Amino acid sequence: MTLLDNTTEFVVPSTIDRSRVEMEARNVACWFGDNKVLADVNLQMPAGEVTALIGPSGCGKSTFLRTLNRMHELVPSASLAGTITLGGEDIYRSRLPVTETRRRVGMVFQKPNPFPAMTVAENVVSGLKLAGVKVTRSERQDLVEHCLRRAGLWQEVEKRLGDPGRALSGGQQQRLCIARALAVEPQVLLMDEPCSALDPTSTRRIEETIATLQETITIVIVTHNMQQAQRVSQRCAFFLAAYGEPGHIVESGTTERIFNNPDDPRTSDYVQGRFG
Ligand SMILES: Nc1ncnc2c1ncn2[C@@H]1O[C@H](COP(=O)(O)OP(=O)(O)O)[C@@H](O)[C@H]1O
Ligand SMILES: [Mg+2]
Repeated sequence: MTLLDNTTEFVVPSTIDRSRVEMEARNVACWFGDNKVLADVNLQMPAGEVTALIGPSGCGKSTFLRTLNRMHELVPSASLAGTITLGGEDIYRSRLPVTETRRRVGMVFQKPNPFPAMTVAENVVSGLKLAGVKVTRSERQDLVEHCLRRAGLWQEVEKRLGDPGRALSGGQQQRLCIARALAVEPQVLLMDEPCSALDPTSTRRIEETIATLQETITIVIVTHNMQQAQRVSQRCAFFLAAYGEPGHIVESGTTERIFNNPDDPRTSDYVQGRFG
């Protein structure tokens, strides 16, 4: 990954900071090789709120999400310009090591991906080592329960903590992935279409979990489901890419305004299901 500026990295000790923080993107552009896929992205993702990213397939929503925890750079041809801040700190140019950024900004994917052979409890704590968080055996038990409770899964699995992750239903696996993400105490949680592989009941459970989590964690969610965007988010950004052009944000604002009184006719067409 090339960043269009010099970066310097120093390793700093991991400190658990539970304060709520906002994320902000300024003039962000992204490339895969010569292919510019995002341009001029400016977006504030306020603390304690849920920001939904909506728009047709291929307009760069996942790419943008991955710039927020430096996963974009895992693709060898990827590059990026612009600034992304976490609580005011530039995540690409500060002294924050990339592992620390990824600890503070967690991610949940479209397809639930628990480690299939690990137990439910092992899955929850599986991110700790990589994040440099050390816990004693009894702290570990408390943490497993705490995270499973926050993910809304505890009651269903408290007697199955030793079962393999693959033994859970799809919706339970996704909540297990949320619990795993929570174990390292992130300040921000990124969710890329977390319900698109789930049935309506499991989707509801995840939406309830999001509503509780947002009190303590800043959440950014990509969704193709317009009802879901309205149910879970307070702010919304509409992404669009014209044919052969990079994606960009047509407009962003409160979810209420984007759905009921958008500035741009393309936004209104999209949210009313006329295309995409
Ligand atoms: N790893 C990759 N390598 C090359 N091009 C990619 C890669 N990932 C995504 N793209 C391209 O970037 C553009 C945006 O994709 P993506 O961010 O996945 O859109 P969305 O999530 O809105 O569907 C698309 O044109 C896609 O083909
Ligand atoms: Mg996507």
